[in-house]
Amino acid sequence: MIGTPSRQADEVELVPTIAELRVRLDAERAAGRSVGFVPTMGYLHDGHASLMRAAAAANDVVVSSIFVNPLQFAADEDLEDYPRDLDRDRALAAASGVHLLFVPDVAEMYPRGPVDTVVAVPPLAERWEGATRPTHFSGVATVVTKLFSIVGACRAYFGEKDFQQLSIIRRMVADLSIPVEVVGCPIIREADGLAMSSRNSYLTTEQRAAAPVLRRALDTAVAAIGAGEADGVAVTRLMADLIDAEPLAELDYAAVVDPDTLEPIEVIEGEVRLLLAAQVGRPRLIDNAGATMGTPMGALDEEDHR
Ligand code: PAF
Repeated sequence: MIGTPSRQADEVELVPTIAELRVRLDAERAAGRSVGFVPTMGYLHDGHASLMRAAAAANDVVVSSIFVNPLQFAADEDLEDYPRDLDRDRALAAASGVHLLFVPDVAEMYPRGPVDTVVAVPPLAERWEGATRPTHFSGVATVVTKLFSIVGACRAYFGEKDFQQLSIIRRMVADLSIPVEVVGCPIIREADGLAMSSRNSYLTTEQRAAAPVLRRALDTAVAAIGAGEADGVAVTRLMADLIDAEPLAELDYAAVVDPDTLEPIEVIEGEVRLLLAAQVGRPRLIDNAGATMGTPMGALDEEDHR
């Protein structure tokens, strides 16, 4: 039995190998205990902490992974520079109820070098983020499938901040009958509305001040739909115009989509998802919100756990 949530960083056990993690988690399940899993790439923030707390509230044992997965970075992306701080991450994981921290190195995860087996989920992965980062989601789907295979039956927690990633993982789990219950958790924001992300650390002071424009654009679009605007193209334009008006932000896409298929919606009826991506200096920022026809601000209020 692993025990109650730890508070000291050194009470979170670091597990570097697949074999050891499997033995530990198989023993927990054999003893009738449930496993909650929070996969991450580290450099943890309150968004990750909220996933860990949700896992700790609903499961007997919480395992989190920290692995900066080379497969999901294109050659010109920030794999080498991706921020890392294991001591800080271990303390945050401890304070958030994690028992085991799986910290494999690249050789442990990919001992034969580049993998021959790839998991891909077109057409969900081809649009939006996938249009700019064509190899990203197959890298995510492949490593998450591998992590699920290592961790075994569990509940796995993902943030809605990466809404397209969450949709792809849900679909992959359903299609491949993976024995994992996927739990989506609300976006966690800074006080001024910027969605938390490890890559926000790349923003300069001026860019950081400009970055909440994404949240303001979403707020405006949610309010418009709440007030009865049913034209998907008009709502898209509303968001795009607000981003375009911010000199430090360069719009990649603004979209009103079906929350399940992620297909663009022309006539808004019922529930939709609003998606945004913009380059603000070095990082590409993404954000999203749910909106419901005729429901003023409801979806954003529910998600806003500042
Ligand atoms: O969202 C992330 O941090 C990563 O994409 C994930 C799910 C840990 C896979 O590397």
